[in-house]
Amino acid sequence: MSGLVLGIETSCDETAAALLTDDGELRSSIVASQDELHARFGGVVPEIASRRHLELIEPVITEALGRAGATLDDVTRIGVTNRPGLVGALLVGVSAAKALAWGRGLPLVPVDHLHGHVASLWIEPVAVEPPFTCVLASGGHTLVLAVHDRGGYEIVGSTLDDAAGEAFDKGARLLGLGFPGGRELDLLAQTGDAGFHPFPVARVPGLDFSFSGLKTALLYAVRDLPPSELEARRADLAASYQAAIVRALVERAHAAREVTGYDRLAVVGGVAANSAFRAALPDATFAPLALCTDNAAMVASAARFLEPVERAAALTLDAHAAAA
Ligand code: KG4
Ligand code: ZN
Repeated sequence: MSGLVLGIETSCDETAAALLTDDGELRSSIVASQDELHARFGGVVPEIASRRHLELIEPVITEALGRAGATLDDVTRIGVTNRPGLVGALLVGVSAAKALAWGRGLPLVPVDHLHGHVASLWIEPVAVEPPFTCVLASGGHTLVLAVHDRGGYEIVGSTLDDAAGEAFDKGARLLGLGFPGGRELDLLAQTGDAGFHPFPVARVPGLDFSFSGLKTALLYAVRDLPPSELEARRADLAASYQAAIVRALVERAHAAREVTGYDRLAVVGGVAANSAFRAALPDATFAPLALCTDNAAMVASAARFLEPVERAAALTLDAHAAAA
């Protein structure tokens, strides 16, 4: 077997490990979601997330190795998310990666979680080669990127307030759906009329986004409907609300091509799983569905193209809440 890259991801509430060959072929990808733990709080509780990562990190790595039919002897490189995210959560993955790298004398590669999302496009069969324009829409970030090469990205637009995934989650909550609600809102919207309510799409200058007004508009729309009618109109509201978010993302995606000069367009991050979004950009390359939301395959993929830290620095590698 050729060398394997072990990817480790613990930046939020998914404990994930994956094994990818040197050639970018995915051998295994394990994602242990903590959704149920956090659902009753309506959002991720950082302390609970860190504690759960501690319990799960070792069994998740062991399972990833087992599914790949591999042992640590087959691993030739370790990639780990070390920013941005919940710092206590990140530290669990970073500590595990440091211990393994040091103990086995393996190269250790710190990975930016956002770069990881972009690298979800480079797992065999490789979907899109740089350079390209990329929309990254997740629960924590909404960015427009110029991806010049596989080593990183340049930010050309971002959200001024909520991320697109956050807008989905907040909308889902207003409509009485569970947490995280993006996927449920997507499902409900499939039975609704997107023309029911004209939600505004904020137009901010340049390639930036603003989603916070949209959420307030939904709050008012829900409040203005009598309870009996609200039940009958929930799917229509979901479809209309979703259409407004997708419209904002699609408009920016097209405008971004003009700015970057890269006509090819790719979409990554949790919101890239949205069915209406995927349908609205038929020419774009979307990350594979299983790799849109957080996973470690994308982290291993990014690590293939980055320099490891010096061995002496491997023990001092730290986790950072903010993006670089
Ligand atoms: O990339 P991700 O797993 O985590 C972050 O890095 O933030 O993205 C999670 C976000 C959540 O807000 C979730 O509701 C949203 O992606 N999401 C969706 C769908 N699936 C996940 N939003 C809309 N439609 C979906 N099908
Ligand atoms: Zn993410």
